[in-house]
Amino acid sequence: MRALVIQNAFGLDNLAFADRPDPAPGPGEVLVRVRAASLNYRDLMIAKGQYNPKLKMPRVLGSDAAGEVVAVGDGVTRFAPGDRVAGCFMQDWEAGPVSEAAAKSALGGEIDGVFAELVVLKERGLVPVPDALSFEEAAALPCAAVTAWNALIGSGCGPGKTVLVQGTGGVSIFALQFAKALGARVLATSGHDDKLARALGLGATAGTNYKTNPDWEKWARQQTDGVGVDIVVEVGGAGTLERSVKAVRFGGHVALIGVLAGAGTFNPVSVLMRAVRVQGVFVGSRAMFEDMLRLIAGEGLKPVIDRVFPFADLPAAFRHLESGSHFGKVVVGV
Ligand SMILES: NC(=O)c1ccc[n+]([C@@H]2O[C@H](COP(=O)([O-])OP(=O)(O)OC[C@H]3O[C@@H](n4cnc5c(N)ncnc54)[C@H](OP(=O)(O)O)[C@@H]3O)[C@@H](O)[C@H]2O)c1
Repeated sequence: MRALVIQNAFGLDNLAFADRPDPAPGPGEVLVRVRAASLNYRDLMIAKGQYNPKLKMPRVLGSDAAGEVVAVGDGVTRFAPGDRVAGCFMQDWEAGPVSEAAAKSALGGEIDGVFAELVVLKERGLVPVPDALSFEEAAALPCAAVTAWNALIGSGCGPGKTVLVQGTGGVSIFALQFAKALGARVLATSGHDDKLARALGLGATAGTNYKTNPDWEKWARQQTDGVGVDIVVEVGGAGTLERSVKAVRFGGHVALIGVLAGAGTFNPVSVLMRAVRVQGVFVGSRAMFEDMLRLIAGEGLKPVIDRVFPFADLPAAFRHLESGSHFGKVVVGV
Protein backbone atom coordinates (compact mmCIF):
# COMPACT_ATOMS: atom_id res chain seq x y z
CA MET A 1 0.00 0.00 0.00
CA ARG A 2 1.06 3.60 -0.56
CA ALA A 3 1.60 6.24 2.09
CA LEU A 4 2.75 9.86 2.02
CA VAL A 5 5.93 10.33 4.04
CA ILE A 6 8.27 13.13 4.89
CA GLN A 7 11.45 11.42 3.75
CA ASN A 8 14.83 12.32 5.17
CA ALA A 9 14.71 16.10 5.47
CA PHE A 10 12.11 18.75 6.24
CA GLY A 11 10.40 20.79 3.54
CA LEU A 12 7.43 20.26 1.24
CA ASP A 13 9.83 19.20 -1.53
CA ASN A 14 10.66 16.13 0.59
CA LEU A 15 7.09 14.81 0.65
CA ALA A 16 6.95 11.56 -1.30
CA PHE A 17 4.86 8.44 -1.70
CA ALA A 18 6.39 5.25 -0.30
CA ASP A 19 5.34 1.63 -0.72
CA ARG A 20 4.77 -0.01 2.63
CA PRO A 21 3.68 -3.57 3.50
CA ASP A 22 -0.05 -3.85 4.15
CA PRO A 23 -0.47 -3.59 7.94
CA ALA A 24 -2.35 -6.19 10.01
CA PRO A 25 -4.34 -5.46 13.16
CA GLY A 26 -3.05 -6.77 16.49
CA PRO A 27 -5.15 -7.29 19.63
CA GLY A 28 -7.44 -4.31 20.25
CA GLU A 29 -6.67 -2.87 16.81
CA VAL A 30 -8.68 -2.26 13.66
CA LEU A 31 -7.50 -2.26 10.03
CA VAL A 32 -9.13 0.62 8.13
CA ARG A 33 -9.16 1.22 4.37
CA VAL A 34 -8.80 4.99 4.23
CA ARG A 35 -11.39 6.59 1.94
CA ALA A 36 -10.67 10.25 2.75
CA ALA A 37 -8.25 12.31 4.80
CA SER A 38 -7.93 15.99 5.61
CA LEU A 39 -5.05 18.37 6.12
CA ASN A 40 -4.41 20.59 9.09
CA TYR A 41 -2.01 23.46 9.60
CA ARG A 42 -0.12 21.10 11.94
CA ASP A 43 0.71 18.83 8.98
CA LEU A 44 2.34 21.78 7.23
CA MET A 45 4.29 22.66 10.37
CA ILE A 46 5.45 19.06 10.83
CA ALA A 47 6.54 18.78 7.19
CA LYS A 48 8.48 22.04 7.46
CA GLY A 49 10.18 21.12 10.74
CA GLN A 50 8.36 23.84 12.70
CA TYR A 51 6.45 21.45 14.98
CA ASN A 52 9.03 18.92 16.14
CA PRO A 53 12.57 19.60 14.88
CA LYS A 54 13.58 16.15 16.22
CA LEU A 55 10.94 14.25 14.22
CA LYS A 56 12.09 10.74 13.30
CA MET A 57 11.97 10.18 9.52
CA PRO A 58 10.64 8.77 7.34
CA ARG A 59 7.30 9.51 8.99
CA VAL A 60 3.82 8.96 7.52
CA LEU A 61 2.02 12.29 7.94
CA GLY A 62 -1.61 13.10 8.66
CA SER A 63 -3.90 12.91 11.67
CA ASP A 64 -7.36 12.94 10.11
CA ALA A 65 -8.95 10.11 8.16
CA ALA A 66 -12.20 8.26 7.66
CA GLY A 67 -12.75 4.90 5.98
CA GLU A 68 -14.12 1.38 6.15
CA VAL A 69 -13.15 -1.34 8.58
CA VAL A 70 -11.42 -4.19 6.72
CA ALA A 71 -10.51 -6.47 9.63
CA VAL A 72 -10.38 -6.40 13.42
CA GLY A 73 -7.84 -7.85 15.83
CA ASP A 74 -8.47 -10.09 18.84
CA GLY A 75 -10.73 -8.65 21.50
CA VAL A 76 -12.30 -5.93 19.32
CA THR A 77 -16.03 -5.67 20.02
CA ARG A 78 -17.06 -2.12 19.02
CA PHE A 79 -16.40 -2.50 15.29
CA ALA A 80 -16.79 -5.09 12.53
CA PRO A 81 -15.70 -5.26 8.86
CA GLY A 82 -17.69 -2.84 6.71
CA ASP A 83 -18.26 -0.26 9.46
CA ARG A 84 -17.64 3.39 8.56
CA VAL A 85 -15.21 4.93 11.03
CA ALA A 86 -13.06 7.99 11.68
CA GLY A 87 -9.85 8.02 13.69
CA CYS A 88 -9.31 10.12 16.82
CA PHE A 89 -6.43 12.60 16.69
CA MET A 90 -5.03 11.10 19.93
CA GLN A 91 -5.38 7.34 19.90
CA ASP A 92 -5.06 7.04 23.69
CA TRP A 93 -7.36 9.85 24.95
CA GLU A 94 -10.78 8.35 25.53
CA ALA A 95 -12.24 10.76 28.11
CA GLY A 96 -11.40 13.06 31.01
CA PRO A 97 -8.44 15.44 31.05
CA VAL A 98 -5.57 15.09 28.59
CA SER A 99 -2.35 13.42 29.78
CA GLU A 100 1.23 13.49 28.55
CA ALA A 101 0.89 9.86 27.45
CA ALA A 102 -2.26 10.68 25.44
CA ALA A 103 -0.50 13.59 23.75
CA LYS A 104 2.23 11.20 22.56
CA SER A 105 -0.43 9.12 20.79
CA ALA A 106 -1.28 11.90 18.32
CA LEU A 107 -1.31 10.50 14.79
CA GLY A 108 1.21 11.77 12.27
CA GLY A 109 3.51 13.18 14.98
CA GLU A 110 5.63 10.88 17.11
CA ILE A 111 3.84 7.92 15.52
CA ASP A 112 2.94 7.29 11.88
CA GLY A 113 -0.18 8.99 10.58
CA VAL A 114 -3.04 8.31 8.24
CA PHE A 115 -2.07 9.66 4.81
CA ALA A 116 -2.04 6.06 3.60
CA GLU A 117 -4.30 3.61 1.79
CA LEU A 118 -4.51 1.31 4.84
CA VAL A 119 -4.02 2.16 8.51
CA VAL A 120 -4.17 0.21 11.74
CA LEU A 121 -5.83 2.22 14.50
CA LYS A 122 -6.77 1.34 18.06
CA GLU A 123 -10.35 0.28 18.73
CA ARG A 124 -10.46 2.89 21.47
CA GLY A 125 -9.16 5.54 19.05
CA LEU A 126 -12.05 5.25 16.59
CA VAL A 127 -15.57 6.65 16.34
CA PRO A 128 -18.44 5.46 14.12
CA VAL A 129 -19.27 7.85 11.26
CA PRO A 130 -22.94 8.95 11.19
CA ASP A 131 -24.87 7.94 8.04
CA ALA A 132 -25.48 11.58 7.09
CA LEU A 133 -21.76 12.30 6.66
CA SER A 134 -19.70 11.30 3.62
CA PHE A 135 -16.16 9.98 4.12
CA GLU A 136 -14.84 13.38 2.98
CA GLU A 137 -16.98 15.18 5.55
CA ALA A 138 -16.06 12.77 8.34
CA ALA A 139 -12.35 13.08 7.50
CA ALA A 140 -12.62 16.83 8.07
CA LEU A 141 -13.45 16.38 11.77
CA PRO A 142 -10.80 14.68 13.96
CA CYS A 143 -8.44 17.60 14.59
CA ALA A 144 -10.02 20.93 13.61
CA ALA A 145 -13.63 20.21 14.56
CA VAL A 146 -12.87 18.47 17.87
CA THR A 147 -10.53 21.34 18.78
CA ALA A 148 -13.23 23.92 18.06
CA TRP A 149 -15.74 21.87 20.03
CA ASN A 150 -13.40 21.48 23.03
CA ALA A 151 -12.67 25.23 22.99
CA LEU A 152 -16.36 26.16 22.97
CA ILE A 153 -17.60 23.60 25.48
CA GLY A 154 -14.68 24.39 27.79
CA SER A 155 -15.52 28.09 27.72
CA GLY A 156 -19.24 27.80 28.47
CA CYS A 157 -20.49 28.66 24.98
CA GLY A 158 -24.27 28.85 24.73
CA PRO A 159 -27.25 31.16 24.25
CA GLY A 160 -26.53 34.78 25.11
CA LYS A 161 -22.77 34.42 24.54
CA THR A 162 -20.77 36.22 21.87
CA VAL A 163 -17.87 34.31 20.30
CA LEU A 164 -15.13 35.82 18.13
CA VAL A 165 -13.47 33.53 15.58
CA GLN A 166 -10.21 34.47 13.83
CA GLY A 167 -9.72 33.76 10.14
CA THR A 168 -11.60 31.24 8.05
CA GLY A 169 -9.47 28.09 8.25
CA GLY A 170 -10.54 24.68 9.47
CA VAL A 171 -10.75 25.32 13.22
CA SER A 172 -12.38 28.74 12.90
CA ILE A 173 -15.15 27.72 10.49
CA PHE A 174 -16.06 24.76 12.70
CA ALA A 175 -16.06 27.12 15.70
CA LEU A 176 -18.42 29.43 13.81
CA GLN A 177 -20.80 26.58 12.95
CA PHE A 178 -20.77 25.03 16.44
CA ALA A 179 -21.11 28.36 18.27
CA LYS A 180 -24.17 29.18 16.14
CA ALA A 181 -25.63 25.74 16.76
CA LEU A 182 -25.09 26.21 20.51
CA GLY A 183 -27.11 29.44 20.35
CA ALA A 184 -24.27 31.97 20.52
CA ARG A 185 -23.69 35.07 18.41
CA VAL A 186 -20.54 34.96 16.27
CA LEU A 187 -18.19 37.73 15.18
CA ALA A 188 -15.66 36.79 12.50
CA THR A 189 -12.37 38.19 11.29
CA SER A 190 -10.56 37.40 8.06
CA GLY A 191 -7.82 38.84 5.92
CA HIS A 192 -10.13 38.65 2.89
CA ASP A 193 -13.46 40.46 2.35
CA ASP A 194 -14.83 37.69 0.13
CA LYS A 195 -14.22 35.14 2.88
CA LEU A 196 -15.92 37.44 5.39
CA ALA A 197 -18.98 37.48 3.14
CA ARG A 198 -18.98 33.65 3.20
CA ALA A 199 -18.63 33.66 7.01
CA LEU A 200 -21.69 35.93 7.23
CA GLY A 201 -23.47 33.46 4.95
CA LEU A 202 -22.73 30.72 7.49
CA GLY A 203 -24.36 32.76 10.25
CA ALA A 204 -21.75 35.16 11.61
CA THR A 205 -23.46 38.38 12.73
CA ALA A 206 -20.65 40.70 11.65
CA GLY A 207 -17.11 40.54 10.35
CA THR A 208 -14.03 42.67 9.95
CA ASN A 209 -10.87 42.40 7.88
CA TYR A 210 -7.89 42.12 10.25
CA LYS A 211 -5.55 43.37 7.52
CA THR A 212 -7.41 46.60 6.72
CA ASN A 213 -8.64 46.93 10.32
CA PRO A 214 -5.70 45.79 12.46
CA ASP A 215 -7.43 47.19 15.58
CA TRP A 216 -10.07 44.47 15.34
CA GLU A 217 -10.21 44.17 19.14
CA LYS A 218 -11.71 47.69 19.26
CA TRP A 219 -14.20 46.66 16.58
CA ALA A 220 -15.14 43.61 18.69
CA ARG A 221 -15.80 45.85 21.69
CA GLN A 222 -17.91 48.21 19.55
CA GLN A 223 -19.96 45.21 18.41
CA THR A 224 -20.70 44.39 22.05
CA ASP A 225 -21.61 47.92 23.28
CA GLY A 226 -18.12 48.40 24.67
CA VAL A 227 -18.33 45.31 26.90
CA GLY A 228 -16.19 42.82 24.95
CA VAL A 229 -16.98 39.34 23.67
CA ASP A 230 -17.41 36.37 25.98
CA ILE A 231 -15.09 33.98 24.13
CA VAL A 232 -12.25 34.33 21.62
CA VAL A 233 -11.25 31.25 19.64
CA GLU A 234 -7.59 32.27 19.41
CA VAL A 235 -5.72 30.71 16.48
CA GLY A 236 -3.19 33.48 15.88
CA GLY A 237 -1.06 32.86 18.97
CA ALA A 238 1.67 35.24 20.07
CA GLY A 239 0.89 37.66 17.24
CA THR A 240 -2.77 38.10 18.19
CA LEU A 241 -3.08 37.14 21.87
CA GLU A 242 -2.76 40.65 23.28
CA ARG A 243 -5.58 41.90 21.06
CA SER A 244 -7.67 38.85 21.92
CA VAL A 245 -7.32 39.56 25.63
CA LYS A 246 -8.50 43.13 24.95
CA ALA A 247 -11.40 41.91 22.83
CA VAL A 248 -12.97 39.85 25.66
CA ARG A 249 -15.10 41.20 28.47
CA PHE A 250 -14.05 41.26 32.13
CA GLY A 251 -13.89 37.60 33.17
CA GLY A 252 -14.10 36.51 29.52
CA HIS A 253 -12.42 33.45 28.02
CA VAL A 254 -9.63 33.12 25.47
CA ALA A 255 -9.29 29.57 24.11
CA LEU A 256 -5.64 29.41 23.08
CA ILE A 257 -5.32 27.10 20.09
CA GLY A 258 -2.96 28.21 17.35
CA VAL A 259 0.19 29.92 16.22
CA LEU A 260 -0.78 31.32 12.81
CA ALA A 261 0.28 34.91 13.42
CA GLY A 262 3.85 33.96 14.27
CA ALA A 263 6.01 35.60 16.89
CA GLY A 264 5.07 38.48 19.15
CA THR A 265 5.45 39.80 22.65
CA PHE A 266 2.73 39.45 25.23
CA ASN A 267 2.02 41.75 28.15
CA PRO A 268 -0.03 39.79 30.72
CA VAL A 269 -1.35 42.86 32.59
CA SER A 270 -4.72 42.86 30.80
CA VAL A 271 -5.22 39.21 31.71
CA LEU A 272 -5.02 39.84 35.43
CA MET A 273 -6.50 43.36 35.56
CA ARG A 274 -9.56 42.12 33.66
CA ALA A 275 -9.63 38.61 35.19
CA VAL A 276 -9.52 36.98 31.76
CA ARG A 277 -9.30 33.18 31.62
CA VAL A 278 -6.75 31.98 29.07
CA GLN A 279 -7.12 28.24 28.47
CA GLY A 280 -4.82 26.15 26.31
CA VAL A 281 -6.66 23.64 24.12
CA PHE A 282 -5.10 20.49 22.65
CA VAL A 283 -7.65 18.91 20.29
CA GLY A 284 -9.92 16.68 22.39
CA SER A 285 -10.85 13.22 23.61
CA ARG A 286 -12.92 10.51 21.95
CA ALA A 287 -15.78 11.39 24.31
CA MET A 288 -15.66 14.99 23.03
CA PHE A 289 -15.60 13.70 19.43
CA GLU A 290 -18.71 11.59 20.16
CA ASP A 291 -20.53 14.49 21.86
CA MET A 292 -19.70 16.70 18.88
CA LEU A 293 -21.01 14.08 16.44
CA ARG A 294 -24.33 14.10 18.32
CA LEU A 295 -24.60 17.86 17.79
CA ILE A 296 -23.63 17.53 14.12
CA ALA A 297 -26.25 14.82 13.58
CA GLY A 298 -28.92 16.63 15.60
CA GLU A 299 -28.42 19.95 13.82
CA GLY A 300 -27.75 18.44 10.39
CA LEU A 301 -24.44 20.34 10.21
CA LYS A 302 -22.13 19.80 7.25
CA PRO A 303 -18.38 20.44 7.42
CA VAL A 304 -17.33 23.21 5.04
CA ILE A 305 -14.96 21.62 2.54
CA ASP A 306 -12.90 23.97 0.42
CA ARG A 307 -11.60 21.40 -2.04
CA VAL A 308 -11.10 17.63 -2.40
CA PHE A 309 -7.79 16.58 -3.99
CA PRO A 310 -7.06 13.07 -5.28
CA PHE A 311 -4.70 11.09 -3.03
CA ALA A 312 -1.99 11.24 -5.71
CA ASP A 313 -2.11 15.06 -5.45
CA LEU A 314 -1.52 15.21 -1.68
CA PRO A 315 1.66 17.28 -2.12
CA ALA A 316 -0.42 19.80 -4.11
CA ALA A 317 -2.99 19.80 -1.29
CA PHE A 318 -0.18 20.80 1.12
CA ARG A 319 0.74 23.70 -1.20
CA HIS A 320 -2.90 24.76 -1.36
CA LEU A 321 -3.16 24.82 2.44
CA GLU A 322 0.12 26.72 2.61
CA SER A 323 -1.26 29.38 0.25
CA GLY A 324 -3.94 30.26 2.82
CA SER A 325 -6.48 30.72 0.03
CA HIS A 326 -8.79 28.02 1.42
CA PHE A 327 -12.05 28.51 3.33
CA GLY A 328 -12.76 25.65 5.76
CA LYS A 329 -11.13 22.28 5.21
CA VAL A 330 -8.80 20.86 2.56
CA VAL A 331 -9.57 17.16 1.98
CA VAL A 332 -8.11 14.30 -0.08
CA GLY A 333 -10.11 11.38 -1.44
CA VAL A 334 -8.24 8.08 -1.19
N1 LIG B 1 -4.11 23.37 19.89
C1 LIG B 1 -4.67 22.48 19.10
O1 LIG B 1 -5.07 21.41 19.52
C2 LIG B 1 -4.84 22.80 17.65
C3 LIG B 1 -5.71 22.03 16.86
C4 LIG B 1 -5.92 22.43 15.53
C5 LIG B 1 -5.24 23.52 15.04
N2 LIG B 1 -4.37 24.19 15.84
C6 LIG B 1 -3.69 25.40 15.35
O2 LIG B 1 -4.71 26.34 15.05
C7 LIG B 1 -4.31 27.13 13.95
C8 LIG B 1 -5.35 26.98 12.85
O3 LIG B 1 -5.29 25.67 12.34
P1 LIG B 1 -6.15 25.28 11.06
O4 LIG B 1 -5.82 23.88 10.73
O5 LIG B 1 -7.55 25.72 11.23
O6 LIG B 1 -5.44 26.23 9.98
P2 LIG B 1 -5.85 26.62 8.52
O7 LIG B 1 -7.05 25.87 8.07
O8 LIG B 1 -4.62 26.55 7.69
O9 LIG B 1 -6.28 28.15 8.68
C9 LIG B 1 -5.50 29.17 8.22
C10 LIG B 1 -6.34 30.46 8.20
O10 LIG B 1 -6.11 31.20 9.39
C11 LIG B 1 -6.26 32.57 9.11
N3 LIG B 1 -5.13 33.37 9.61
C12 LIG B 1 -3.85 33.34 9.19
N4 LIG B 1 -3.14 34.26 9.86
C13 LIG B 1 -4.00 34.88 10.69
C14 LIG B 1 -3.87 35.95 11.60
N5 LIG B 1 -2.72 36.60 11.78
N6 LIG B 1 -4.96 36.33 12.30
C15 LIG B 1 -6.14 35.71 12.12
N7 LIG B 1 -6.33 34.70 11.24
C16 LIG B 1 -5.26 34.30 10.54
C17 LIG B 1 -6.38 32.72 7.60
O11 LIG B 1 -7.76 32.94 7.32
P3 LIG B 1 -8.20 34.17 6.39
O12 LIG B 1 -7.68 33.86 5.03
O13 LIG B 1 -9.68 34.19 6.51
O14 LIG B 1 -7.57 35.40 6.96
C18 LIG B 1 -5.92 31.36 7.09
O15 LIG B 1 -6.53 30.99 5.90
C19 LIG B 1 -2.91 26.63 13.57
O16 LIG B 1 -1.94 27.41 14.23
C20 LIG B 1 -2.89 25.23 14.10
O17 LIG B 1 -1.59 24.78 14.37
C21 LIG B 1 -4.16 23.84 17.12
